[in-house]
Amino acid sequence: MGRATKVVLAYSGGVDTSVCIPYLKEEWGVEDVITLAADLGQGEELGPIKEKALTSGASISLVEDVTEIFVKDYAFPAIQANALYENRYPLGTALARPLIAKILVEAAEKYGADAVAHGCTGKGNDQVRFDVSIAALNPNIKVLAPAREWGMSREETIAYGEKFGIPTPVKKSSPYSIDRNLLGRSVEAGPLEDPWTEAEEEIYLMTKAIADTPDQPEYVEITFEQGLPTHVNGKALSPVALITELNDVVGRHGVGRIDMIENRLVGIKSREIYESPALLVLIQAHRDIESLTLTKDVTQYKRGIEETYSQMVYNGQWYSPLKMALDAFIEKTQERVSGTVRIKLFKGTANIVGRKSNESLYAPDLATYGADDTFDHKAAEGFIYVWGLPTRIWSEKVRGN
Ligand code: ARG
Repeated sequence: MGRATKVVLAYSGGVDTSVCIPYLKEEWGVEDVITLAADLGQGEELGPIKEKALTSGASISLVEDVTEIFVKDYAFPAIQANALYENRYPLGTALARPLIAKILVEAAEKYGADAVAHGCTGKGNDQVRFDVSIAALNPNIKVLAPAREWGMSREETIAYGEKFGIPTPVKKSSPYSIDRNLLGRSVEAGPLEDPWTEAEEEIYLMTKAIADTPDQPEYVEITFEQGLPTHVNGKALSPVALITELNDVVGRHGVGRIDMIENRLVGIKSREIYESPALLVLIQAHRDIESLTLTKDVTQYKRGIEETYSQMVYNGQWYSPLKMALDAFIEKTQERVSGTVRIKLFKGTANIVGRKSNESLYAPDLATYGADDTFDHKAAEGFIYVWGLPTRIWSEKVRGN
């Protein structure tokens, strides 16, 4: 008896997931391997992947375009949550994993598979995100992770694949490990493993080097309705078109790069380079329109929720009860988060230079320093007396009078 009879394998077309196909069959006694490649708007032709899976021994090869769901149901809620892991990483890779887990489980149910599989190793966050999401969606489905157990080096993996007709990568394989989708690119390994080594310019594909950016600033206006981005420069765009457009505009001004050391869930620190132009600017703009439309206490309380939310997404808890409860909180806060933010892009910077909203809580007659000021200055005195009373009493005590 093998570990499973029929398996749906998350498939990228790379050597590792290709080798998973014969490995599952030969070493673990799986009879049927169905591959599933998710199109997340990575801008890559997935047709050849289909063929590749079949020649590598898959019985069925599925490609599913889930780009729109990815943006609407995964990226947009994260924008409403202003989600930045460790205050910097907008979670482009992390957000894709629960969606891939979902379509894996759906395919397993549809094709009557008793297990799903992925090609993650035992050191990363992605294995956690897959395994925990799958358990949340269908706890009866087994998860197989061959690369977590096989202990083969890169060379051994390639050699193993060759025995089963999996071609050796033609071009000298890049030293980098790269994950990409419509939201961005995550690049690690190779020379980047030394945190002191500057990333080579060639690793960036979505963002221009400052030397190649336009010499004139460009203004872009982003409109939000109930916390969701709907228009760019006054033009209504579908979620996918909006992200695509902003990636382009923002990236060409060299905005959207992050070079960071992050703390993985498994306890390791790792150095990652991200580029995520649209998502970063959208979070910045969203936070700004919130500053105009949310009350002081909601704004400040939400910061803590956002921190927890970001950690939960990073740590693979997308489908957990606390995460869903936080979703409900965040959604409630977004009811009046509507308006337009104006951003100036120039030479690697994105600065918000204006914002407006019909839901604005900014009261000009209270804020003004001019003659039409309506704020009751005298009322401040009594307020300050009460506000400062505990501190006054403490000070008198400490000073002994
Ligand atoms: N560290 C990022 C995360 O955990 C990206 C992981 C994938 N990165 C990669 N270069 N393969 O979300």
